[in-house]
Amino acid sequence: MATKVSKRSSGGAGYRAGAFPTTKTQLQAGTGLLCFTCSVCFILSIICTCLATLLVLVDQKVEAANYQYLLTTMNTESVPDLSFRLPKEVKPLHYDVYLHPDLEKGTFQGKVTILIDVLNRRSYIALHQKDLNITSTALNTYDREENFEFELLDLIQIPKYEMFVVPTKNELHTGLYHLSFEFNGALQPDKIVGFYSSKYKDAQNRTRYIATSKFEPTYARRAYPCFDEPAFKAEFTVKLVHPTGDNYGALSNMNAECTQINQPSPGLTTVTFAKSVPMSTYLSCFIVSDFIALTQMAKGLNDRQFPVSVYTTRTQQDKATFALDIGVKIIEYYIDLFRIDYPLPKLDMAAIPDFVSGAMENWGLVTYREARLLYDKKTDSSAKGYDVVTVISHEFAHMWFGNLVTMSWWNDLWLNEGFASFMQYKSADGILPDWGLMDLFLIEQMHSVFVTDAKLSSHPIVQTVSNPDEITAIFDEISYKKGSSVIRMMENFIKPEVFYGAISSYLNKFIYHNAETADLFKILQESSPDSLNVTAIMDTWTRQTGFPVVNVKKSGNKYVLTQKRFLANPDAHFDSSESEYGYKWTIPITYITNNTSKPTLVWFDKDAKDLVIEFKEPVNWIKFNADEVGYYRVNYEPTEWDILYNILRHQHKTLSVSDRVHFLEDVFSLASASELDYGIAMNMTAYLKQEKHAIPWSVATSKLTAIDTLLSSTISSSKFKKYVRDLVNDVYHEVGWHVSDTDDRISLKLRTTVLRLACSVEHAKCLKEAGEIFKNWIQDPRDIRPHPDIRDLVYYYGMHHAGDEAMWRIMLKKFTVETDSTEKLKLMRGLAAIRSTWILNIFITVATDENYVRAQDFFSCLIAISDNPVGTPIVWDWVRSNWEFLVNRYTLNDRYLGSLIPSITKMFATETKLNEMESFFARYPDAGAGAMNRAKALETVSNNIKWLAKNSRNLESWLNSHVQNN
Ligand code: BES
Ligand code: ZN
Repeated sequence: MATKVSKRSSGGAGYRAGAFPTTKTQLQAGTGLLCFTCSVCFILSIICTCLATLLVLVDQKVEAANYQYLLTTMNTESVPDLSFRLPKEVKPLHYDVYLHPDLEKGTFQGKVTILIDVLNRRSYIALHQKDLNITSTALNTYDREENFEFELLDLIQIPKYEMFVVPTKNELHTGLYHLSFEFNGALQPDKIVGFYSSKYKDAQNRTRYIATSKFEPTYARRAYPCFDEPAFKAEFTVKLVHPTGDNYGALSNMNAECTQINQPSPGLTTVTFAKSVPMSTYLSCFIVSDFIALTQMAKGLNDRQFPVSVYTTRTQQDKATFALDIGVKIIEYYIDLFRIDYPLPKLDMAAIPDFVSGAMENWGLVTYREARLLYDKKTDSSAKGYDVVTVISHEFAHMWFGNLVTMSWWNDLWLNEGFASFMQYKSADGILPDWGLMDLFLIEQMHSVFVTDAKLSSHPIVQTVSNPDEITAIFDEISYKKGSSVIRMMENFIKPEVFYGAISSYLNKFIYHNAETADLFKILQESSPDSLNVTAIMDTWTRQTGFPVVNVKKSGNKYVLTQKRFLANPDAHFDSSESEYGYKWTIPITYITNNTSKPTLVWFDKDAKDLVIEFKEPVNWIKFNADEVGYYRVNYEPTEWDILYNILRHQHKTLSVSDRVHFLEDVFSLASASELDYGIAMNMTAYLKQEKHAIPWSVATSKLTAIDTLLSSTISSSKFKKYVRDLVNDVYHEVGWHVSDTDDRISLKLRTTVLRLACSVEHAKCLKEAGEIFKNWIQDPRDIRPHPDIRDLVYYYGMHHAGDEAMWRIMLKKFTVETDSTEKLKLMRGLAAIRSTWILNIFITVATDENYVRAQDFFSCLIAISDNPVGTPIVWDWVRSNWEFLVNRYTLNDRYLGSLIPSITKMFATETKLNEMESFFARYPDAGAGAMNRAKALETVSNNIKWLAKNSRNLESWLNSHVQNN
């Protein structure tokens, strides 16, 4: 490999700074530039292009050659062992980032100067970049008498690690240096990560372009060369260039300090932002847009006030008030709870038209999908209110958990996401106590992850990850929902007063630094007055896969508890020596009895054979895992289940909502895993006739509809539907379709839950009414839409049962012109509900066009179509035939692409489908970030097959004796 020593490696012929062009665009850009210079250059350019093309073709060899070169030319004593991790001996302290996006061309120019601290003598510096064209590199002394510029060898790209190496001619001593780069790149309009462009239509129907960023976990390196790992915290001073006028402005993590008009040239403005606090690269954020702000002041500590703002496109400003009001309350709640101020001078939230995730916690500038932040009082539902509140409360929790104290490496991601997912309920419940948010926690977080964690394909909360695909993949239910569930359990056994004091100490101790799981447990342990061994307890929950079921046997006044790993498939085999803890957990056992409603806590050690609880006097009944705070299931003997069932039947209100919810959840899951007779589970549903609370109905809905789908191809299908229709009938008539202004939150939630269940089991009146409301609306020239709370149900079930092609076309038109992102999603789901194969096929094709469905919403569209039984095979065929299109559009690193497979195959229950899946995976063996999702999908389908073989008979006989034939 020819290499050239260059002092300041900018300009000149060939690929500057020895940077190998890594993309086709770079190759073409480089060639084009040379073509205009002179004919010598032209010839050179051809040679260069040929060479470079060859290099791209033999990418692996290039890498090996680069690496070989690195080894032979470095004069360090220790040969660098580069892997996905950067060497720790070069630390960034400060970044001066300058970015100038060209919104029209979709490109950007950038400069960055990084103040680095070199901790050992060395002759190379490694850092990250991806898809950037680095045009100039310089290394200077810092803070010494004369500013000395070092001679550099040509840069070496290591595409596999998304890194590059700056080799120096002479060895560097320890100390501070300035490392500078000039570079350019593309605002990739189709890949909405990194520094990218988003567009929308303004009030005059003009297309407006904005530049924005989303960097977590490994995409900051696509915007500027950097040390892109969470432990490399540094301060940032950012300069952004935006067009002057036309309402354009720039936003970043900090407040703007200086605005220079006509800089760098007429028609442009340069904004310089204040220097940030030390932070990880993934939290930096840059926006150039014509957004408008709505602002309110929030109270910090010691009477400090700071502005909280919501930025939106101009026409949507009215929809920002709800988020702003909630945002102020939530940030004040956290400041008060942690007794640590929000450290920045401002807190912005921005609703971005194209956004890959739901939201992202960039420090001081939190970004959201429009549909997750904006709330229109006139057209949005009460359920949407919950969503907006909890998305904000989740992201703001990150201002402490993640931003102030960051996990050292991604394997401890749960310290970010688990905490934010728990705190989102805690803080929202704190500001809205009558919304019932802690009950909601159970169904949205714990029950949902139980499904995943009861499979062999699950993984421990703390799990080793190294490459970008593995890092993306760990943003999953285990980090979020199991993380939040075990935190809730800890909060309870440590006791909230002690817990939040310890959390505050933890945050203070690691402020502006990084922490690991062990650091948290150590502080909790030190704070615990009962000298609990928090580390030993919690390691059993965070370092092994799965969770236990506690089996309870009664003998006289004694209850004998044993534990075993709970698995959805009763025949699943596992080797307990695979886990350091032998798949045993140290369990906080709590219980209430007919005599004591205050829970008692006793510990079931992982090494104990059993736990015996003895009473002096016999108790009439006992319920373990009070309020389902522990991350485990409980199984009783049939006689005890009978007693518990009778309480539910005759006096269900003596038990809390969470306890009722817990019974339903466990009894169905245990039956499904053949740990319990299905008859016991089905019998228990009879109590629902008295139940008026939304959350138990919601658990029942998810359990009953799952069985309904699995039974759909069996003889029991219609009887099962009839049983559920009878069950839901009374409460259906109570809630009805009319939404009243005086309904409280729980009643509103009960209505939609019950209507959904009734429609899904073909309750005739329910469907008839949905169809009538639907037809009245679709034929109404004034387009007066159904009440926001029932609107999605009307669109879905109305279209499913009463829709025809003509109505579908009217709805498509409404969908096409709709500008509100939430309403658009509702209409999209309605369109997905039609019972016509050919129309659904057309819809998928239409949806691939960005003019109809934004790339960010396409997966939701596919999933909605596949949730329609008529659409399931269509989507499955389409995805298999168009996999390459999807990979090209989203990349294998996209977490939504990864989770598409389990979503669309979750109800498959035949060997044929299983074989189709296996051969599809064999055809495309590289799963990228979706590897675990594939394993999960296969396990789900094979469990479904077994479930049918084991349970359809039992259910059939139960139904025969409980449902009249008519
Ligand atoms: N930190 C994440 C954003 C993120 C998600 C980055 C995935 C990288 C990969 C953010 O805090 C988050 O968790 N967002 C959620 C929504 C939230 C309300 C649970 C999301 O985007 O799904
Ligand atoms: Zn998060």
